[in-house]
Amino acid sequence: MSKEINRRDFIGYSFAAVAAVGGAASLVGMKQAWDPLPSVLAGGFTEIDLSAVKAGEPETFTWRGKPIFILKKTAEMESSTRDLVIGADRFTVAIGLCTHLGCIPAWKKDKWKCACHGGEFNPSAKQVFGPPPRPLDLPPFSVKGTSITLGEEGPEYKAIADAMKA
Ligand code: FES
Repeated sequence: MSKEINRRDFIGYSFAAVAAVGGAASLVGMKQAWDPLPSVLAGGFTEIDLSAVKAGEPETFTWRGKPIFILKKTAEMESSTRDLVIGADRFTVAIGLCTHLGCIPAWKKDKWKCACHGGEFNPSAKQVFGPPPRPLDLPPFSVKGTSITLGEEGPEYKAIADAMKA
């Protein structure tokens, strides 16, 4: 005996097929919504090769949406407990947001100057003029060879952070 698909069965199968495809599409959509955005994943840790930074010419990187200043100090620039020493080189690593009201200072000749209210920070990121109440903040980092990874608290970071508290 042959089975014929009647009109009502056909409609039922069609609905089931549409529901299955819709359900699968929903699951894919939900997974995409739950997963962190690529920009968030990329923003967690940022690796920077310090060997490419030239002495006396600070560079600005971005980590978690914030500017990060990295200055390789020249021989003339004073030492600080805040220096990150790698081999024979000394670096200042700082979050590039003025500690007064959050503007981004710009490097002018031998210091960072904040255009908003005239605050100034020396090559060790210490406030030396104007209203900023404290040095530029230190971002967490770890060191591997000549590279640092922003977002990880390594022993070098902890030592500098402790020295800044003292
Ligand atoms: S925000 Fe920099 S001095 Fe006010």
